[in-house]
Amino acid sequence: MNKYNFIHFKVGKERDPKFVKFYKDYYVDYIEKHGKLRGAHVLDIGSGDGRLAFFLHKYVEKWYGLESSKMMLKRARKNRTELNIENKIRFHESDMHKTPFSKDKFDIIIYSNSLHFSENPKRAFQEAYRILKDGGLLFVFEHPSYLRWGSNTLNKTLEDGSENPDFNEKFCNVKLGKLASLEKYLNNQKLFTKLNREGYHNRWVFRKAVFSLNEDF
Ligand SMILES: C[S@@+](CC[C@H](N)C(=O)[O-])C[C@H]1O[C@@H](n2cnc3c(N)ncnc32)[C@H](O)[C@@H]1O
Repeated sequence: MNKYNFIHFKVGKERDPKFVKFYKDYYVDYIEKHGKLRGAHVLDIGSGDGRLAFFLHKYVEKWYGLESSKMMLKRARKNRTELNIENKIRFHESDMHKTPFSKDKFDIIIYSNSLHFSENPKRAFQEAYRILKDGGLLFVFEHPSYLRWGSNTLNKTLEDGSENPDFNEKFCNVKLGKLASLEKYLNNQKLFTKLNREGYHNRWVFRKAVFSLNEDF
C-alpha cells in the first residue's frame, strides 16, 4: 500500500456549489467534449476515497472505482453508504496493472491523479486497453490537486478562475520529473490514439486504437 496521505472526503461537499462547479468544469465538460457520459460504464482507476464518483456518478449509467488501498476503499464505501447511492457505484479492490474485469467492458476509463503512481505505465495501459471497448475513451488527469492546495487557494481558483502556474511547482504532489517521464510515455505509447492534450491542465484523452490481428505492438 502506498503512503499517500489524502484528506478525508467530507460527505456534503458533493453538494457544495463550488466543488460541483469545479468537477463539472474540470472533468465533465472535458470528457463530454470528446465523448458521452450518459449511458456510459465508467472505470475510475485509483479511485481513492471516491470523490470523483460522488460528483460524477449522476452523469453516467454505472460507475466503477478501482483502488488498491484498503483504507481508501473503506472511506469510499462509508461515504457511499452515507450518500445512499450504493446501486450506482461499485468499488473494487485491485491493482491497476491487473484488474478483475472482462475484456471490452468499459466505455470510458479515467485515471485521475493516479497514473503517476504506476511503476509500469506500459503494463497499466495494456490492462486499460484490454478492458476498454473498441473505440472507448481513456482519460488521464494529472493536475496538481486543487483539493490539496488548501481552502484559500481552492476558493480563489474557483471564484476568479485564475490558476497561477507557480502552484504547479509549489503544491503539486506529483514531482515534475515524474510527470515529464509519464508524459514521454504517453507520447510514445502505441495502444491508443491521442485525441487531445491540454498542457496547462495536464489533461489527456485517447481513443483505443483498433489493430488487425497480426499487427505487432
Ligand atoms: C492521488 S489519489 C487520487 C484519487 C482520486 N482519483 C482523485 O483524483 O481525487 C491516487 C490513488 O491511486 C491509488 N493507487 C496507487 N497505486 C495504485 C495501483 N497500483 N492500483 C490501484 N490504485 C492505486 C492510491 O491508493 C490513491 O488512492
